[in-house]
Amino acid sequence: MNTVNQITLNQSRGVERIIKGVATSDGAGVKLTRVLTGKLQHRLDPFLMLDAFGSDNPDDYIAGFPDHPHRGFETVTYMLSGRMRHRDNAGHEGLLEQGGVQWMTAGRGIIHSEIPEQKNGVMEGFQLWLNLPAKRKMAEPWYRDISSKEIPEYVTTENVTVRVIAGMSNGVAGVVTREETEPMYLDIHLPTGASFSTAFPALHNAFIYVYRGTVEVGDTPVESHRMGILSNAPQADGVTLTATGDARLILIAGRPLNEPIVQYGPFVMNTQEEINQTMDDFRNGHFA
Ligand code: CO
Repeated sequence: MNTVNQITLNQSRGVERIIKGVATSDGAGVKLTRVLTGKLQHRLDPFLMLDAFGSDNPDDYIAGFPDHPHRGFETVTYMLSGRMRHRDNAGHEGLLEQGGVQWMTAGRGIIHSEIPEQKNGVMEGFQLWLNLPAKRKMAEPWYRDISSKEIPEYVTTENVTVRVIAGMSNGVAGVVTREETEPMYLDIHLPTGASFSTAFPALHNAFIYVYRGTVEVGDTPVESHRMGILSNAPQADGVTLTATGDARLILIAGRPLNEPIVQYGPFVMNTQEEINQTMDDFRNGHFA
């Protein structure tokens, strides 16, 4: 694995707000926490949703997400633990396993299912929704299954391990790049007392979600199972995180699209007319 010297920032972002998320269920009854809800879509543009799921009780996840449609954005599913099989109406099928990512561009429309391929044990991970720019909302559907070993990893001189799912961090490029939204998606493991810095543009919207331990951003602690929205400041060229104990988190940033967002369930377009058209297309079988 690469050992890298991390950047020294001019100024770190701070935490603007801590978000607890809302316990809910989706699909055929999968229990999850909706961390990034509709109310935060403008603040965290281009990100539309973040769900965190994690349970060792099969009743919480076993029914999965049977056939359902999407249009107008991308879904990024990251499995920390467990196995999920997906199938779509274009005939694609894949198995998402521990440490792996499925990156799917719904574009003009896809119908797919996401079903756990395990009867017991821990199922834990995240699903992020990344918006598409207006000009790409009706693009051809696309997806890529990225196995754990395909995700670039590096270690800093402070023994922080970083997996780069998307974007660029301390000179290490991730698997996926997107021209319009420039997403950065990192999974970061900090040992007790370690600090970690990474750069990203001041105009990008960014947040962390801590899933083990506690990290401090400046003087603000962000505890386990909390999202910290990172403040935007013109001079802030990235973020510095410090772990008081062993901690794990995801850090996500992206360039805002600054376009209107109209969501109806699994469809995210720019206008109500486009949503109406989407529902007509779906009812008339045009997603098939
Ligand atoms: Co889906």
